[in-house]
Amino acid sequence: MNDTDDKNVPFGFRSVAEGEKQSLVNEVFSKVADRYNQMNDLMSGGLHRLWKDDFVAWLNPPRNNTQFRVLDVAGGTGDIAFRIARVGGSGVHVTVADINPEMVNEGRKRANREGLQAFCDFTVGDAENLAFPDMAFDAYTIAFGIRNVTHIDKALSEAWRILKPGGRLLCLEFSRVDMPGLESLYDAYSFTVIPAIGKVVTGDGQPYRYLIESIRTFPDQEKFKGMIEQAGFTRVQYRNLTGGIVAMHSGWRI
Ligand SMILES: C[S@@+](CC[C@H](N)C(=O)[O-])C[C@H]1O[C@@H](n2cnc3c(N)ncnc32)[C@H](O)[C@@H]1O
Repeated sequence: MNDTDDKNVPFGFRSVAEGEKQSLVNEVFSKVADRYNQMNDLMSGGLHRLWKDDFVAWLNPPRNNTQFRVLDVAGGTGDIAFRIARVGGSGVHVTVADINPEMVNEGRKRANREGLQAFCDFTVGDAENLAFPDMAFDAYTIAFGIRNVTHIDKALSEAWRILKPGGRLLCLEFSRVDMPGLESLYDAYSFTVIPAIGKVVTGDGQPYRYLIESIRTFPDQEKFKGMIEQAGFTRVQYRNLTGGIVAMHSGWRI
């Protein structure tokens, strides 16, 4: 038997064949694409906006006309790309690459509505196999995306490949709560309230159950830091937000 035969990977709390996971993930995001932004606000009580603001503040794109090319992978409907474009100067350009055409369409429509199309472009692409040349970008961002990817190690080595030497990886993802008392409250909220809101707003609670379960199976802060180092990044560090509900990891390609 070779490495790819019959291997199973987690899909939320279920275990599915490795080759099946991405299409299940795609189904989830196709179902929620047109309500994605509204649901994010409802589920997080608006907190996701603050987390994304902090994330872009840590990236700290140049405010002047210095050329700065960012690849925002799993960029969905553009929340990170638009923030970077808004705070950055005239030399900043963000390319979004997301595997789901429906999410990308929503992002494109929003970019046009918000007059940001000159600073952001939207492409369909897989984090594990990016259609960009080596050393093409100054920064690689991924927000709430990497836990959906089947082979995290492949996505991280693609990040390293497309970054210029001196380029930076920044990842925002749900992580492990490190505040006593918050964990049980957070669990109760996640497993009951979020799928219920999902059912009311989108008519289906199931995609939201996957999203919550996938958070619990994603590696914790230290383990994920090790995976980033394993991919070749240096000076890897992380910052917790809201008691570790979310963590930002940063690493450099030197
Ligand atoms: C929770 S959304 C995050 C969207 C956006 N980054 C944000 O923070 O609002 C996750 C996104 O990951 C995308 N995705 C899942 N697997 C992917 C893959 N292998 N390559 C690229 N994008 C992927 C989904 O299509 C979805 O748009």
